[in-house]
Amino acid sequence: MNSVKKLIAGNWKMNGSLESNTTLLKSILDGDTRADACDAVVCVPSVYLSQINSLIQDAASSRVRLGAQDLSAHEKGAYTGEISVSMLKEFGVSFVIVGHSERRQFHHETDQLVAIKAERALGAGVTPIVCVGETQEEREAGLTEVIVKRQLAAVIHLVGHCISEIVVAYEPVWAIGTGLTATPEQAQSVHAVLRAQLNAAAGDVAQRIRILYGGSMNASNAKSLLTQPDIDGGLIGGASLKALDFLSIIACA
Ligand code: PGA
Repeated sequence: MNSVKKLIAGNWKMNGSLESNTTLLKSILDGDTRADACDAVVCVPSVYLSQINSLIQDAASSRVRLGAQDLSAHEKGAYTGEISVSMLKEFGVSFVIVGHSERRQFHHETDQLVAIKAERALGAGVTPIVCVGETQEEREAGLTEVIVKRQLAAVIHLVGHCISEIVVAYEPVWAIGTGLTATPEQAQSVHAVLRAQLNAAAGDVAQRIRILYGGSMNASNAKSLLTQPDIDGGLIGGASLKALDFLSIIACA
Protein backbone atom coordinates (compact mmCIF):
# COMPACT_ATOMS: atom_id res chain seq x y z
CA MET A 1 0.00 0.00 0.00
CA ASN A 2 1.40 3.36 -0.99
CA SER A 3 1.60 5.61 2.04
CA VAL A 4 1.20 9.04 0.38
CA LYS A 5 -1.69 11.23 1.44
CA LYS A 6 -4.61 10.62 -0.85
CA LEU A 7 -5.94 13.37 -3.12
CA ILE A 8 -9.58 13.80 -4.06
CA ALA A 9 -10.01 16.18 -6.99
CA GLY A 10 -13.35 17.40 -8.26
CA ASN A 11 -13.60 18.23 -11.94
CA TRP A 12 -16.61 20.48 -12.37
CA LYS A 13 -16.16 20.54 -16.15
CA MET A 14 -18.39 23.16 -17.86
CA ASN A 15 -20.97 23.29 -15.08
CA GLY A 16 -22.01 25.87 -12.54
CA SER A 17 -23.20 29.44 -12.12
CA LEU A 18 -22.30 32.15 -9.64
CA GLU A 19 -25.25 31.13 -7.52
CA SER A 20 -24.95 27.36 -7.66
CA ASN A 21 -21.17 27.50 -7.13
CA THR A 22 -21.62 29.33 -3.85
CA THR A 23 -24.13 26.80 -2.61
CA LEU A 24 -22.00 23.83 -3.67
CA LEU A 25 -18.72 25.12 -2.34
CA LYS A 26 -20.16 26.33 0.96
CA SER A 27 -21.73 22.92 1.54
CA ILE A 28 -18.40 21.25 0.80
CA LEU A 29 -16.46 23.62 3.07
CA ASP A 30 -18.99 23.31 5.88
CA GLY A 31 -19.14 19.54 5.67
CA ASP A 32 -15.43 18.99 5.39
CA THR A 33 -14.31 18.69 8.98
CA ARG A 34 -11.50 16.11 9.01
CA ALA A 35 -8.90 18.33 7.45
CA ASP A 36 -5.89 16.09 7.96
CA ALA A 37 -7.00 12.83 6.38
CA CYS A 38 -6.51 13.59 2.68
CA ASP A 39 -6.03 16.50 0.31
CA ALA A 40 -8.94 17.90 -1.68
CA VAL A 41 -9.16 20.20 -4.69
CA VAL A 42 -11.92 21.57 -6.89
CA CYS A 43 -11.10 22.24 -10.56
CA VAL A 44 -13.54 24.86 -11.74
CA PRO A 45 -14.23 26.71 -15.00
CA SER A 46 -11.72 29.57 -15.41
CA VAL A 47 -14.27 32.36 -15.20
CA TYR A 48 -15.17 31.19 -11.69
CA LEU A 49 -11.62 30.92 -10.32
CA SER A 50 -11.84 34.34 -8.71
CA GLN A 51 -15.17 33.55 -7.07
CA ILE A 52 -14.07 30.17 -5.75
CA ASN A 53 -10.71 31.52 -4.64
CA SER A 54 -12.47 34.14 -2.51
CA LEU A 55 -14.83 31.60 -0.97
CA ILE A 56 -11.90 29.34 -0.07
CA GLN A 57 -9.93 32.25 1.38
CA ASP A 58 -12.90 33.25 3.52
CA ALA A 59 -12.96 29.77 5.02
CA ALA A 60 -9.43 30.21 6.34
CA SER A 61 -9.05 26.74 7.82
CA SER A 62 -10.12 24.78 4.77
CA ARG A 63 -7.88 22.20 3.14
CA VAL A 64 -9.78 22.53 -0.12
CA ARG A 65 -7.43 23.83 -2.79
CA LEU A 66 -8.22 25.47 -6.10
CA GLY A 67 -7.58 23.88 -9.47
CA ALA A 68 -8.06 24.83 -13.12
CA GLN A 69 -9.14 22.50 -15.92
CA ASP A 70 -6.60 23.52 -18.56
CA LEU A 71 -3.83 26.02 -19.27
CA SER A 72 -2.12 27.42 -22.31
CA ALA A 73 1.06 25.82 -23.58
CA HIS A 74 2.36 29.35 -24.15
CA GLU A 75 3.67 31.84 -21.66
CA LYS A 76 1.95 34.96 -23.02
CA GLY A 77 1.13 36.82 -26.20
CA ALA A 78 -1.13 36.55 -29.23
CA TYR A 79 -3.12 33.43 -28.34
CA THR A 80 -6.73 34.58 -28.33
CA GLY A 81 -8.88 32.80 -25.81
CA GLU A 82 -6.01 31.14 -23.97
CA ILE A 83 -5.11 31.48 -20.29
CA SER A 84 -1.52 31.30 -19.08
CA VAL A 85 -0.30 29.58 -15.97
CA SER A 86 0.85 32.88 -14.46
CA MET A 87 -2.72 34.19 -14.82
CA LEU A 88 -4.06 31.07 -13.11
CA LYS A 89 -1.59 31.54 -10.28
CA GLU A 90 -2.83 35.07 -9.66
CA PHE A 91 -6.17 33.53 -8.75
CA GLY A 92 -4.78 31.05 -6.25
CA VAL A 93 -4.60 28.01 -8.51
CA SER A 94 -2.32 25.27 -7.23
CA PHE A 95 -3.43 22.35 -9.44
CA VAL A 96 -4.33 22.15 -13.12
CA ILE A 97 -5.78 19.25 -15.08
CA VAL A 98 -3.87 18.58 -18.29
CA GLY A 99 -4.69 16.19 -21.08
CA HIS A 100 -8.19 15.33 -19.95
CA SER A 101 -9.66 12.94 -22.51
CA GLU A 102 -12.31 15.52 -23.39
CA ARG A 103 -9.53 17.92 -24.42
CA ARG A 104 -7.69 15.19 -26.28
CA GLN A 105 -10.92 14.25 -28.05
CA PHE A 106 -12.68 17.56 -28.71
CA HIS A 107 -9.66 19.86 -28.90
CA HIS A 108 -7.26 17.42 -30.55
CA GLU A 109 -4.63 17.73 -27.86
CA THR A 110 -1.67 15.49 -28.63
CA ASP A 111 0.64 13.71 -26.18
CA GLN A 112 3.27 16.29 -27.06
CA LEU A 113 1.02 19.26 -26.31
CA VAL A 114 -0.10 17.69 -23.04
CA ALA A 115 3.55 17.24 -22.07
CA ILE A 116 4.34 20.89 -22.86
CA LYS A 117 1.39 22.01 -20.75
CA ALA A 118 2.55 19.82 -17.86
CA GLU A 119 6.03 21.32 -18.15
CA ARG A 120 4.58 24.84 -18.23
CA ALA A 121 2.59 24.19 -15.05
CA LEU A 122 5.57 22.69 -13.23
CA GLY A 123 7.73 25.64 -14.23
CA ALA A 124 5.29 27.93 -12.39
CA GLY A 125 4.97 25.72 -9.32
CA VAL A 126 1.46 24.55 -10.20
CA THR A 127 0.86 20.80 -9.95
CA PRO A 128 -0.35 19.26 -13.20
CA ILE A 129 -2.88 16.44 -12.92
CA VAL A 130 -1.89 14.54 -16.05
CA CYS A 131 -4.74 12.42 -17.41
CA VAL A 132 -4.17 9.21 -19.34
CA GLY A 133 -6.60 6.54 -20.43
CA GLU A 134 -7.71 4.24 -23.21
CA THR A 135 -10.92 4.24 -25.23
CA GLN A 136 -13.31 1.29 -25.34
CA GLU A 137 -11.95 0.21 -28.74
CA GLU A 138 -8.38 0.39 -27.51
CA ARG A 139 -9.23 -1.75 -24.47
CA GLU A 140 -11.00 -4.30 -26.62
CA ALA A 141 -7.99 -4.42 -28.93
CA GLY A 142 -5.76 -5.19 -25.93
CA LEU A 143 -3.99 -1.84 -26.22
CA THR A 144 -4.68 -0.39 -22.77
CA GLU A 145 -1.10 -0.64 -21.51
CA VAL A 146 0.42 0.59 -24.75
CA ILE A 147 -1.80 3.66 -24.81
CA VAL A 148 -1.41 4.77 -21.20
CA LYS A 149 2.33 4.16 -21.26
CA ARG A 150 2.71 6.17 -24.46
CA GLN A 151 0.71 9.06 -22.99
CA LEU A 152 2.72 9.09 -19.77
CA ALA A 153 6.05 8.59 -21.56
CA ALA A 154 5.60 11.87 -23.44
CA VAL A 155 5.38 13.73 -20.14
CA ILE A 156 8.26 11.83 -18.52
CA HIS A 157 10.41 12.56 -21.55
CA LEU A 158 9.80 16.29 -21.40
CA VAL A 159 9.79 17.03 -17.67
CA GLY A 160 12.62 14.67 -16.70
CA HIS A 161 13.57 14.76 -13.05
CA CYS A 162 10.57 16.99 -12.18
CA ILE A 163 8.33 14.00 -12.80
CA SER A 164 7.98 13.36 -9.06
CA GLU A 165 6.07 16.66 -8.80
CA ILE A 166 3.17 15.61 -11.03
CA VAL A 167 -0.09 13.88 -10.22
CA VAL A 168 -1.27 11.22 -12.67
CA ALA A 169 -4.93 10.39 -13.25
CA TYR A 170 -5.86 7.13 -14.93
CA GLU A 171 -9.23 7.74 -16.56
CA PRO A 172 -10.45 5.03 -18.90
CA VAL A 173 -12.40 7.01 -21.50
CA TRP A 174 -15.19 4.42 -21.55
CA ALA A 175 -15.82 5.01 -17.85
CA ILE A 176 -16.09 8.81 -17.95
CA GLY A 177 -19.59 10.08 -17.38
CA THR A 178 -21.03 6.74 -18.46
CA GLY A 179 -21.81 5.16 -15.10
CA LEU A 180 -19.48 2.32 -16.12
CA THR A 181 -16.65 2.14 -13.61
CA ALA A 182 -13.49 0.11 -14.01
CA THR A 183 -13.56 -2.67 -11.43
CA PRO A 184 -11.06 -2.15 -8.61
CA GLU A 185 -8.97 -4.97 -10.12
CA GLN A 186 -9.03 -3.46 -13.62
CA ALA A 187 -8.05 -0.06 -12.26
CA GLN A 188 -5.37 -1.45 -9.95
CA SER A 189 -3.73 -3.41 -12.75
CA VAL A 190 -3.35 -0.26 -14.90
CA HIS A 191 -2.19 1.76 -11.88
CA ALA A 192 0.50 -0.86 -11.22
CA VAL A 193 1.72 -0.49 -14.81
CA LEU A 194 1.89 3.30 -14.43
CA ARG A 195 3.66 2.97 -11.07
CA ALA A 196 6.27 0.68 -12.61
CA GLN A 197 6.82 3.14 -15.44
CA LEU A 198 7.25 6.01 -12.96
CA ASN A 199 9.60 3.90 -10.84
CA ALA A 200 11.71 3.15 -13.87
CA ALA A 201 11.87 6.86 -14.74
CA ALA A 202 12.31 8.40 -11.33
CA GLY A 203 13.45 5.68 -8.92
CA ASP A 204 12.38 5.89 -5.28
CA VAL A 205 10.84 9.36 -5.48
CA ALA A 206 8.18 7.87 -7.76
CA GLN A 207 6.60 6.40 -4.65
CA ARG A 208 5.34 9.82 -3.70
CA ILE A 209 3.63 10.45 -7.07
CA ARG A 210 -0.10 10.17 -6.61
CA ILE A 211 -1.96 8.15 -9.21
CA LEU A 212 -5.68 8.97 -9.13
CA TYR A 213 -8.47 6.91 -10.64
CA GLY A 214 -11.24 8.71 -12.53
CA GLY A 215 -14.32 7.53 -14.37
CA SER A 216 -17.71 7.34 -12.69
CA MET A 217 -16.24 7.23 -9.22
CA ASN A 218 -19.04 7.86 -6.75
CA ALA A 219 -19.99 7.54 -3.10
CA SER A 220 -20.76 3.84 -3.41
CA ASN A 221 -17.76 2.58 -5.36
CA ALA A 222 -15.11 4.95 -3.95
CA LYS A 223 -14.09 2.76 -1.04
CA SER A 224 -13.35 -0.34 -3.06
CA LEU A 225 -11.29 1.68 -5.53
CA LEU A 226 -9.45 3.76 -2.96
CA THR A 227 -8.31 0.72 -0.98
CA GLN A 228 -6.35 -0.67 -3.93
CA PRO A 229 -2.60 -0.50 -3.27
CA ASP A 230 -1.74 1.82 -6.17
CA ILE A 231 -4.83 4.05 -6.20
CA ASP A 232 -3.90 7.25 -4.39
CA GLY A 233 -7.09 9.21 -4.87
CA GLY A 234 -9.77 10.11 -7.36
CA LEU A 235 -10.60 12.58 -10.11
CA ILE A 236 -14.32 12.98 -9.81
CA GLY A 237 -16.63 14.50 -12.42
CA GLY A 238 -20.37 14.09 -11.95
CA ALA A 239 -20.23 13.19 -8.26
CA SER A 240 -18.18 16.30 -7.45
CA LEU A 241 -21.18 18.45 -8.32
CA LYS A 242 -23.13 17.05 -5.37
CA ALA A 243 -21.70 18.17 -2.04
CA LEU A 244 -22.81 15.10 -0.12
CA ASP A 245 -21.38 12.68 -2.68
CA PHE A 246 -18.10 14.56 -2.90
CA LEU A 247 -17.85 14.66 0.89
CA SER A 248 -18.49 10.93 1.20
CA ILE A 249 -15.75 10.21 -1.33
CA ILE A 250 -13.42 12.44 0.71
CA ALA A 251 -14.46 10.50 3.81
CA CYS A 252 -13.57 7.19 2.09
CA ALA A 253 -10.08 8.52 1.39
P1 PGA B 1 -17.02 11.29 -14.17
O1 PGA B 1 -15.85 12.19 -14.80
O2 PGA B 1 -16.68 11.10 -12.71
O3 PGA B 1 -18.27 12.09 -14.38
O4 PGA B 1 -17.02 10.00 -14.91
C1 PGA B 1 -14.52 12.03 -14.42
C2 PGA B 1 -13.65 12.96 -15.21
O5 PGA B 1 -13.92 13.15 -16.42
O6 PGA B 1 -12.68 13.54 -14.69
